[in-house]
Amino acid sequence: MQQPVCRRLEGRVAVVTGGAGGIGLATVRRLASEGATVVVADVDREAGTSSADEVGGLFVGTDVSSDVEVERLYRAAYDAYGRIDVAFNNAVSHLPTTTPYSPPAWMPGGASRT
Ligand SMILES: NC(=O)c1ccc[n+]([C@@H]2O[C@H](COP(=O)([O-])OP(=O)(O)OC[C@H]3O[C@@H](n4cnc5c(N)ncnc54)[C@H](O)[C@@H]3O)[C@@H](O)[C@H]2O)c1
Repeated sequence: MQQPVCRRLEGRVAVVTGGAGGIGLATVRRLASEGATVVVADVDREAGTSSADEVGGLFVGTDVSSDVEVERLYRAAYDAYGRIDVAFNNAVSHLPTTTPYSPPAWMPGGASRT
């Protein structure tokens, strides 16, 4: 594995959807190698748990086609670590969402948008 150039993400928290495989898993590993605490979200619970365990992160079972599950994901990440610095919304749902997403009031930056 390529060595990180630095630990520039030390103390930062990153959320990666689709983090169980492919580009998402590679991103989970890279973010962790640079010091980030990573929250892995995926529909594949077994592979997602393995991904999170590999980097000492948190797995949250999430189907990104569900607005409720996406909000629960970010809530769980924030509750666990008290901050969210990076969001890699990598997983794609091929189902249209019913409502446009905006951050909830409890999330930094969310209150001013509601
Ligand atoms: N691989 C490419 O060449 C390529 C090119 C352009 C865009 N993309 C996009 O990049 C993203 C990742 O691609 P990849 O090749 O790593 O895909 P992949 O299929 O290898 O991995 C996708 C991951 O997302 C998870 N996932 C699928 N549906 C989900 C859902 N509804 N909720 C949560 N997790 C879900 C899967 O379980 C899997 O772990 C996709 O959005 C893809 O459309 C990929």
